[in-house]
Amino acid sequence: MTIVPLTPSTGGILQPNQVIGRDAEVEKMISILKRQSINLSALRRSGKSSLLSKLNAELNRDKAFRAIYLNVEGISNCDSFIEKLYLKLKEEKVIKEKAISKVDKAFDKLLGRFSKIGLPGGFSAELNKRRQVWEKQLDELLLAIIESNPNRQIVISLDEFSIMLDKIEDEKEASELVGILRSVMHNEPFKDSIRFIYCGSIGIDLVLDKLKRAGNNIGQPLNHMFDFILDPLTDENAFYLAQCFNMGCELDLSEAEMKSICELGENIPYYIDALFSIIRYQNNIQKAYDTILDDPNNKFEFKHFYERITLHYPNKEDSFLILNFLSKEKNPKTEVEILNYLSSEKIISRTTLIDELERLRTDDYLLRQMKKEQRTYQFKYEILRKWWKINKSY
Ligand SMILES: Nc1ncnc2c1ncn2[C@@H]1O[C@H](COP(=O)(O)OP(=O)(O)OP(=O)(O)O)[C@@H](O)[C@H]1O
Ligand SMILES: [Mg+2]
Repeated sequence: MTIVPLTPSTGGILQPNQVIGRDAEVEKMISILKRQSINLSALRRSGKSSLLSKLNAELNRDKAFRAIYLNVEGISNCDSFIEKLYLKLKEEKVIKEKAISKVDKAFDKLLGRFSKIGLPGGFSAELNKRRQVWEKQLDELLLAIIESNPNRQIVISLDEFSIMLDKIEDEKEASELVGILRSVMHNEPFKDSIRFIYCGSIGIDLVLDKLKRAGNNIGQPLNHMFDFILDPLTDENAFYLAQCFNMGCELDLSEAEMKSICELGENIPYYIDALFSIIRYQNNIQKAYDTILDDPNNKFEFKHFYERITLHYPNKEDSFLILNFLSKEKNPKTEVEILNYLSSEKIISRTTLIDELERLRTDDYLLRQMKKEQRTYQFKYEILRKWWKINKSY
């Protein structure tokens, strides 16, 4: 591979051609999309949006697909979601002129019908009417997409979908949306032609769990989707990225030094990028690593790992205790050792502990391994363990 000069962009949005590696992931996702939709999850800042940008560029090169990328962060109701989707479809000409005027007429008719009815009965009646409108609008839009793209599979990536679900003010509305999207993916006439990719920087399981706990009957809205977990870069791609930064930052690092940067960054491109953003001005790798872990201004976005638990975990104190204990040692701990520690702090049942450990594992904080027929746990990424130890443990 030819080395191209790159400068660290820590956190910036990458163009598809700036996304290093991920070819195997793109290939695998394309083959999955032929059969089913995808739920893409991974650690915060691990490169999900970058992967989507490369995937969409690749899909749009293939006549069998038409892909659109929609970032839905900041949206807090379904009407705005439909509006954003519609604008995007028009802008990217996914629906043809003829279909657009048909959709516009259908939308006008729907809005006219419902505004005439008026909205007596307060908030819940209003929500119900609104739902009837946006549900039908979504139906019209998806029909228009299929009509304009015969014999093509349409892939709609919804980046920050979990954040949107969490932000939708009315939990019932959020629950209805996941149910309706599930039935789109499941039923005629859309099931063979429309695919969704859900992606988000908070775990969708956490958000769905919250909806369930609030009494919304949402069933299993993801069980027909492929769970795609994004891993760090391969050794080869991480080293290639380091070589590109070495050239772009006009450094003259040895192969061993670049490999040690990849190792410290655990092949996660965001951390390799972050390390180079410091090393380019002060050539000391270990010091750069310490700076990242110690930064008081949250420049490297670790605080999110703490806040996510505060905001979304039902038993946050238990999770904090578990992470507190595990952050103090690099080696895995058995479930019994973790239980003993927690029991010294509070009363906790084994089943509650198992559920809490499972949540942390699903959410990518912990790695579980069987050792001598016992479940053992440790932090999945050393960089997060160290940050936790330095900044949060007691
Ligand atoms: N494949 C890659 N090649 C080069 N740099 C990358 C790659 N993937 C990620 N990065 C770096 O990591 C940063 C974060 O990537 P990205 O925004 O894709 O992560 P994310 O998982 O979507 O984050 P969030 O969880 O905040 O949504 C990018 O701005 C870039 O600096
Ligand atoms: Mg992202």
